[in-house]
Order: sequence, then C-alpha cells, then structure tokens
Amino acid sequence: MSKIPSNLKYQLYESSVQNHECDIEFINKQYKKFFKKPALTFREDFGGTAAMACDWVKQSPDHKAWGIDLDPEPIAYGKENHYSRLNDNQKSRMEYIEGNVLADYPFKADITVAFNFSYFIFKERRLLVEYFAKVKEGLSKDGVFFVDIFGGTEARQELQEETEHDNHTYFWDCDSYNTLTEEVLYYIHFKDHKDGKMYRKAFTYDWRMWSVGEIKDAMLDAGFSNVVTYWEGTDDDGTGDGEFYSSKDEENCESWVTYIAAMP
Ligand SMILES: C[S@@+](CC[C@H](N)C(=O)[O-])C[C@H]1O[C@@H](n2cnc3c(N)ncnc32)[C@H](O)[C@@H]1O
Repeated sequence: MSKIPSNLKYQLYESSVQNHECDIEFINKQYKKFFKKPALTFREDFGGTAAMACDWVKQSPDHKAWGIDLDPEPIAYGKENHYSRLNDNQKSRMEYIEGNVLADYPFKADITVAFNFSYFIFKERRLLVEYFAKVKEGLSKDGVFFVDIFGGTEARQELQEETEHDNHTYFWDCDSYNTLTEEVLYYIHFKDHKDGKMYRKAFTYDWRMWSVGEIKDAMLDAGFSNVVTYWEGTDDDGTGDGEFYSSKDEENCESWVTYIAAMP
C-alpha cells in the first residue's frame, strides 16, 4: 500500500469534498437575512488547510478570518497553497491558529463554522455541548454558528461510495457502524489516475453519528437561543439543486447533507 505524499493528500481532499465558494455564498446570504448587514469576522473551526478562511478575507478590506486546527500538517499545506496566494493586505487579515477548538480565544467572530462534519469527533454529548458553548462564547452579539450534517437511510451502514473526478477517484468508505453506540469509522481512499496508484486510508474519521434533532437539542443546551434547520431543494430529476431553504419537517431519503444555524 502506497503512503500518500502530504501535498497530494490535501490537494485530492480539497477537490473531492470542499465547495467553500458555495458555503460562503450560503452563509453570507443567511447572515444578511438574520441581521440585515454583512458578516465580517469569520472563524473556521477544524479548519485543516483553512482554504475557506483564506477565501473569506478576499471579500473586502473589512473581512477578517481565523482558521483553527490541532494538526500542523494541513496548516502547513494551507499556508503554502492558499495563504501564500493572498496579497499582503489580505494576509494581514487571515490568521492560522494551531490549537484546540475547545480552548478560549481572545476574539469574537460574526460567523463560526464547523464544516465537513468535523464536530462528529465529539462522541460524548457532554463534550459536544461543551464545544458548542465555547463557540457561543466566541461569537459576536450578532453572531451565527453554522455546521453541516449528513444522514439518510444509507448513512448508518457499512458502505463505500465512489466518485469519479477528472484526475482521481474518491472513495468514502464506512468501514464500521455500531448501532448501539452510533460510533462509526470512516476512511477516505484515493486512486490517482495519472499513475494508477491507490492510496488507501489517506484519512481516517473515528466519529459518532449525530442526528439533526440531537444537534439542535445540544445547541439549545449549550445556550443558543435560536436554531434554524435547512434542507436542500431538488431539480426535476429529484437530485439536490444546491439551494438550501429553512425547514422544520422533511422526509428522509437515501443520503442527504444539510446545514444547521444557531444564534446566541
Ligand atoms: C474533517 S477535517 C475538516 C477539514 C475542513 N474543515 C474541511 O471542511 O474540509 C477535520 C479536522 O479537524 C481537526 N481537529 C480534530 N479535532 C480537533 C480539535 N479538538 N481542535 C481543532 N482541530 C481539530 C483535524 O486535525 C482535521 O484537520
């Protein structure tokens, strides 16, 4: 089994799972709807390479961002491949923090995000609520915390999904799911089309599956006063159209991804 070089690992990851242009458009639109003004300060929790935070500061000279992650490896990739492409003024408004999302930070953000389901790392409800309470403390008065979440009838079973991209295949592999504890073990594998090399277990996620209802309750228990749940619209053929609307009641389907917003 080949070990994936670090640069290739994050390059393939970002092109497989991230769409932060759409995420930024969505959170900007929702924030304006809530507070009738633009959000300026942005905290990307579990930021990894913090590609989204680097894009955030491109919006105007008043936009500022922080990307927080424990792991120096994705931070180094992000500095080399995203931060380095910012101009000096943008650089002065973007800060990488190698640290724990559970720690205290001396700044407030209009928007904090925890995307790509990263908060599923907290398997105990007590820790999840502690994390949400920290996020709330770090939000401006007019602040919003956004998370994404996935589910569906196919989400809680051992199953491997394959997605073809121009230069690689992406595998999202649910290796095990424990229905009694909701603990789940996911791997990401890649196949590089250029040399045909298969990189197994490029990423490992030892998570707990949480439902929208559980996350909403945990956010309220952490002190948030208002939680908004969203759902994705569909095209004529029934596939997701990328447009998310606020909703409180939807039918389950095989596989879905959506957002939750929480306000202090
Ligand atoms: C699934 S990746 C998410 C990367 C990026 N946010 C995205 O949307 O693609 C999860 C990241 O969370 C980081 N992480 C895990 N526990 C953390 C913690 N307690 N504090 C900060 N970062 C953490 C890992 O190092 C990893 O980079």
